[in-house]
Amino acid sequence: MNYSADETRYDRKIYRRCGESGIQLPAISLGLWHNFGHIDDYQNSRSIALRAFDLGITHFDLANNYGPPPGSAEENFGRMMREDLRKYRDEMIISTKAGYLMWPGPYGDGGSRKYLIASLDQSLKRMGLDYVDIFYHHRPDSTTPIDETMSTLSHIVRSGKALYIGLSNYTPDLTRQAAIMLKKMGTPCLIHQPRYNMLDRWAENGLLQVLENERIGCIAYSPLAQGLLTNRYQNGIPADSRASKPHGFLKEDRVEETLPIIRKLEEIAQSRGQSLAQMALVWILRDPVVSSVLIGASSVGQLEDSFNALNNKNFRSDELERIDKILKAKYK
Ligand SMILES: NC(=O)c1ccc[n+]([C@@H]2O[C@H](COP(=O)([O-])OP(=O)(O)OC[C@H]3O[C@@H](n4cnc5c(N)ncnc54)[C@H](OP(=O)(O)O)[C@@H]3O)[C@@H](O)[C@H]2O)c1
Repeated sequence: MNYSADETRYDRKIYRRCGESGIQLPAISLGLWHNFGHIDDYQNSRSIALRAFDLGITHFDLANNYGPPPGSAEENFGRMMREDLRKYRDEMIISTKAGYLMWPGPYGDGGSRKYLIASLDQSLKRMGLDYVDIFYHHRPDSTTPIDETMSTLSHIVRSGKALYIGLSNYTPDLTRQAAIMLKKMGTPCLIHQPRYNMLDRWAENGLLQVLENERIGCIAYSPLAQGLLTNRYQNGIPADSRASKPHGFLKEDRVEETLPIIRKLEEIAQSRGQSLAQMALVWILRDPVVSSVLIGASSVGQLEDSFNALNNKNFRSDELERIDKILKAKYK
């Protein structure tokens, strides 16, 4: 069936400025790490992506290694671009990354000029694109001089193969250093992508402050802690859930360990008339430095549930205090 986007997709005001740039991102963006590989059902992946676009979600996040197998999420997304989304290209912010192992030998991993440029060329080919909107260094590489990585990112933007630069998983110090270098090169860093959710608040220990000071946007990945911060594991571990998949990074013991906290958080969510997933997402968006939360979804229903978080974004101070108390108790 020929796809035609929902004409009301921009009626909801869901966009937030990304740092000090000209770019606005949807408060909720869609990531293709899981559920978009060749091992997944293509029609389900396609329905999720197209429903996202219909809801006004203009930002789609990929990486060279997403699948499995690695590269297949980009190939599937390329098919969607070719068959469904081509005419909407200028309405979309598409990102990809390099930084983890992608091919054998000394040039398929890390942060060298050789790896980053070759990887982006491969990604563009898989997706059938002339350029990506954001190209990220996926993680810092202590074996490559930071000026080599930054000058390569800057070169990539000048070459037109990416419009903006992103950094992911960089510490506060490295982010500051990189931001200063990139600014001097005339190609400032647009955005940082850290893991940030109720169960992992490391970004609050310096990173968010650096991003605010440097006027860099923040997009929080795994905002639902890969599904822990949802009702997914209320009655055990469903066979089709991430925790039961051999290629997933969410382990069963992690599910069991967090259940008591999840149940307490669930009570607060219920009293707000929200699902836990919805509350977990807007809790991250309470900080204006965060431009977007980068969700995953294995079904259209999950995507819609998460998207509806935006119907109730405000917290009372006593709710935030109760949440803090629950989260802090976890470390005792
Ligand atoms: N830069 C990096 O190093 C890095 C690392 C990781 C991720 N990322 C990016 O962040 C994106 C999101 O990561 P993530 O998939 O871990 O995000 P997440 O939103 O924390 O977890 C997504 C999972 O939660 C469950 N879920 C989602 N919505 C739900 C709902 N409303 N109700 C119940 N369950 C729900 C689903 O699990 P089931 O599959 O079990 O149904 C879904 O696959 C990735 O796709 C990628 O783009 C970046």
